[in-house]
Amino acid sequence: MPHELELNDGSRLPAVGFGLYKVAPAETVDVVAAGLAAGYRLIDGAELYGNERELGEALRRADASGLDRDELTVTSKFWGEASQVPAAVRAAFDASERALGRIDVYMIHWPRPARDRYVDVWRTLVELQAEGRVRTIGVSNFTEEHLRRIIGETGVTPAINQVESHPWLPQHELRRAHDELGIVTQAWSPLGRSRVLRDPTIGRIAAEHGVTPAQAIIRWHLQAGGALVPKSTHPHRLRENLDVDRFTLSDADMAAIAALETGERTGTHPDDRN
Ligand code: A2P
Repeated sequence: MPHELELNDGSRLPAVGFGLYKVAPAETVDVVAAGLAAGYRLIDGAELYGNERELGEALRRADASGLDRDELTVTSKFWGEASQVPAAVRAAFDASERALGRIDVYMIHWPRPARDRYVDVWRTLVELQAEGRVRTIGVSNFTEEHLRRIIGETGVTPAINQVESHPWLPQHELRRAHDELGIVTQAWSPLGRSRVLRDPTIGRIAAEHGVTPAQAIIRWHLQAGGALVPKSTHPHRLRENLDVDRFTLSDADMAAIAALETGERTGTHPDDRN
């Protein structure tokens, strides 16, 4: 994979990964094998996705077939439905680590601002990193306000903020804040859960370049300087979504896509989940 981004902890992150959200446990081993065969080197998992045991099994099989684990970046995330106290964070990390063997990137999955525990949760991730248990720590679904608060109170800036972003929700302001703070933007639902794929402007731009709408959108993310984790359970789409180096979007294409902003979310707003 040619596209990599440098993180503020000095490590490198494959710009395109594949996400395991809503991938059924029974499908996970095959999907991960197809993704690795297609060339993905970042796998975006989470406790919430309910398939970490199967992801771990897929990683053991990949290891047995000779794939160098050091080439892979495997992500997990703390969900914390029941409790957000530091001991709960550690217990969740331990369980994910047991399932996966090793976690490269650990994130806070949701800020849950109404519970107001995310600063302490972040402090625990900072400790786990200091203990050498995880290379990179980040957050997900954080607003600029949440980011500034954890940085202000702990002095440690997350390497990544994974947020919903696609041409209808480009997150221009949040991306500017990330650039200022040295945080990589990693998009979830980067294709807008497939709805944005049917946008006529995306269709026109894709046709002009002789590519698919998904490829045009993925190229937009990359040229905007971000990372992304598109999800597909189909091997041919997994391959298609990595095959984005044969064309470049023009400034006019980028501007036309930037103008598609409607603010429409396909997922939940960060403030709306307790
Ligand atoms: P599937 O898993 O059946 O391939 P997002 O990552 O934005 O949440 O979007 C994921 C959705 O887009 C999934 O429903 C996935 O379906 C679909 N998808 C992923 N890649 C492509 C592609 N290249 N062409 C069409 N649909 C795609």
